[in-house]
Amino acid sequence: MNAPALEVHLDDDDLDRTLRSDVLTGLTADRKWLPPKWFYDARGSELFEQITELDEYYPSRTERQILTDRAGDIARHTRARTLIELGSGYSTKTRLLLDALTAQRTLEAFVPMDVSPTALTAAATRITADYPGLRVHNIVGDLTRHLKHLPDGGSRTIAFLGGTIGNLVPAERAAFLADVRSVLEAGEHLLVGTDLVKSPRVVVPAYDDADGVTADFNRNVLRVLNRSLGADFDLDGFAHVALWDADQEWVEMRLRARWPMRVHVRALDLVVDFAAGEEVRTEVSAKFRREGFERELAEAGFALDRWWTDKDGLFAVSLARAVPAS
Ligand code: SAH
Ligand code: AVI
Repeated sequence: MNAPALEVHLDDDDLDRTLRSDVLTGLTADRKWLPPKWFYDARGSELFEQITELDEYYPSRTERQILTDRAGDIARHTRARTLIELGSGYSTKTRLLLDALTAQRTLEAFVPMDVSPTALTAAATRITADYPGLRVHNIVGDLTRHLKHLPDGGSRTIAFLGGTIGNLVPAERAAFLADVRSVLEAGEHLLVGTDLVKSPRVVVPAYDDADGVTADFNRNVLRVLNRSLGADFDLDGFAHVALWDADQEWVEMRLRARWPMRVHVRALDLVVDFAAGEEVRTEVSAKFRREGFERELAEAGFALDRWWTDKDGLFAVSLARAVPAS
């Protein structure tokens, strides 16, 4: 079997530098926070896969259903020769797209990009075996920094599934969409999964499941800091919190100190004090409405060609086309 090509834009030095800078910024802020991309070491990527199987976590199965119903339409509409996937993880749902595009005989290359080399290489090895003749080119990279390294044009579709776009705060999202537009040529496509605004009675349990898998995923960021930066977080000292922010229309995950703690981050020579009840924001997961997302796409230079939802209106998949710059 051919080993898939691996292109690394996030080597250990780069990861170490950005992790240090993010941790220093986030844990010395008045309201402490950490960027969600640090959840995804090998264990975090595996925990996310477990989340996707939970009863409470509707986004993955709902997006899968929409893609099952629409993959043929997507293939006919895009006629993609190259499918690029951002934040690809294990690329499980992506196979629906690969199947439809190979059946149509347009697809030549698959280019997944993720910060997590473990998930990326596991997925690519399997995909290389299952789709003979497909060129698989893995990119270990950060979608907020490395889009310029994506392969050049000719009928490309960029897929960004799972609702991960909601893990970017609005300013990051606008910058990201503008960046995606700048690497695409007019007429090429962006396929995005977005979770939709709905009752917090449905959303919050998806981020606070009865088995505690999401709690473990949330605390995993502390494991990453302990291992990578020699920190001494006591994971039992932090409670998992998931709450709905009705103004921002997003879920926030936080870690709340159960008692006062002094944490040392040895690699940064940093001491961080936590009062009892003090929280660190570890993720936002924005939920969308069609009008708002269509506006964001338009501002970045995309026309919304298709908007597909499930019958309960839980999740949407948008197919957008890069329009010529005016
Ligand atoms: N697309 C998959 C996985 C979603 S989990 C699905 O729909 O199931 C989110 C994925 O995005 C993880 O694999 C994580 O490693 C990746 N990710 C998070 N932040 C990222 C970033 N800044 N750059 C690249 N990948 C990122
Ligand atoms: C990857 N991303 C879309 C997930 C989400 O739903 O925001 C990450 C996640 N966080 C908690 N559970 C799942």
